[in-house]
Amino acid sequence: MSFYITTAIDYVNAQPHMGHAYEKITTDVIARYMRQRGEDVFFLTGTDEHGEPVADAAQRAGIDPRELADRNAERFKRLLPALEISNDFFIRTTDPQHERKVQEILQRVHDNGHVYAGVYEGWYCPKCADFKTEGEVGPGNTCPIHGIELSREHENNWFFRLSAFQQQLEALFDERPDFVLPQARANEARAFLEQGLQDVSLSRARLRWGVSVPWDPEQVFYVWFDALLNYVTALSYAREGEDLTARYWPASVHMIGKDILKFHTIYWPALLLAADLEPPRHVLIHGFLLMDDRKMSKSLGNVLDPFAVIDAYGADALRYYCLREVSFGQDGNVSAAGFEARYDAELANEYGNLASRTIAMISRYRDGELPAVATDAALRADFQALPEQVAERLDRFELSSALELIWQRVRRLNRYVEERAPWQLARQPDAGAALDQTLASLAEGLRVVSVLLHPYMPACTQRLLQALGAPDADWGATGFAEQAAGGRVCALEALFPKRN
Ligand code: MSP
Repeated sequence: MSFYITTAIDYVNAQPHMGHAYEKITTDVIARYMRQRGEDVFFLTGTDEHGEPVADAAQRAGIDPRELADRNAERFKRLLPALEISNDFFIRTTDPQHERKVQEILQRVHDNGHVYAGVYEGWYCPKCADFKTEGEVGPGNTCPIHGIELSREHENNWFFRLSAFQQQLEALFDERPDFVLPQARANEARAFLEQGLQDVSLSRARLRWGVSVPWDPEQVFYVWFDALLNYVTALSYAREGEDLTARYWPASVHMIGKDILKFHTIYWPALLLAADLEPPRHVLIHGFLLMDDRKMSKSLGNVLDPFAVIDAYGADALRYYCLREVSFGQDGNVSAAGFEARYDAELANEYGNLASRTIAMISRYRDGELPAVATDAALRADFQALPEQVAERLDRFELSSALELIWQRVRRLNRYVEERAPWQLARQPDAGAALDQTLASLAEGLRVVSVLLHPYMPACTQRLLQALGAPDADWGATGFAEQAAGGRVCALEALFPKRN
């Protein structure tokens, strides 16, 4: 089955921060899990380069928007390998192929009768690039998200007949209760719909930095429509000489943050219907990472730099921390102190140390030879239903609760070492069989948790599986064997070295 997953595309008006990293990581966990399951996965991410957010930032910096976009897009692109993100393509909305396709699709929306000329009179936030309805305006005509004063706009532009899709969207929400996940976010989208949809501007007359409207080249498309369409346009040119649209559309999952829910759960399906395209299967909404309970923002100076954390501790540690600390779907605080605490207690100690001890004991007591004996039935029983339980959660995109289940087994293995005390068995001349069973069971448990942890921490789990002589990280390898396969272990450098 094909599985197409996307992240939101980032505005290039700023540098990448932890919030951007978080969204890539959570999406990557799902993409890697689906690949483990043998699905035909396509994973898209990229940058959103048009509109006021970028044009205004470029003006403040005294440079051309294209120069700013080129410079910052590079930083967002560099973040991906640093985070071990397995995306299949990186789209920039300034790609000429994207621009042409946007024009083609929106021309179709126009020709299908969903566009008309009108006058926009109302409030606008240039940071959100959002036309605010009266209900969305904060006290003193400010933006409730950015706290800045909204501008009063009066301009002739093209309108998209969003209101005409009221009933079709209601039907979509009725028929597909899992269209928006988690459920609380679906309720939010539904509440917006129930206020009654109003038509929205499709173009901007005063802005030059955008994709020009083919039937009115004096105007550019409103940046949100240009941006949303990236999910479709990328498929037409991501692979040279190939159009992947039929293979991957409709998208399986759009991963986004809660601040852009309206665009993805209301505007986007309506636009797709207007363009004779199918809406995506799921819009999956994550919460916000906060620093000291506050939004991350440059002006607050509380932006944790993901590059710095990766340089010091590696991508796996950052990936693990984000998924463990913040319950997926909710907002959560992240901090350097919180990161260090989990790094020491869970990664270095519970997992890293378990791995080093197990390999060291097999080397010392059995000369690196894994005993090919029956594994411990009681331990095996504790792992029995684990793959199914993890899959059940991951299939519902419950990323943190799946990780919790796996981690319980990491802790179980640590208790098993203490219970069996292999160092004592090694001193007893008649305990050879018990020691064999203990080592084989430990290695098998470690192998299973590592395969399950692979989507979360791809690099260290791969290293450990190699060292155990069992590199297969596909889903078929998640079962705890009754009879250990034997083989040899190799030396393993500390997965999570102690911090200085
Ligand atoms: N360009 C638009 C998205 C267009 S998608 C067709 C945009 N860009 S953004 O750079 O502002 O945000 C990109 C993504 O990062 C969004 O999903 C947003 O919710 C997410 N995050 C930005 N700050 C965040 C946190 N502090 N925490 C978690 N995610 C956050 O919106």
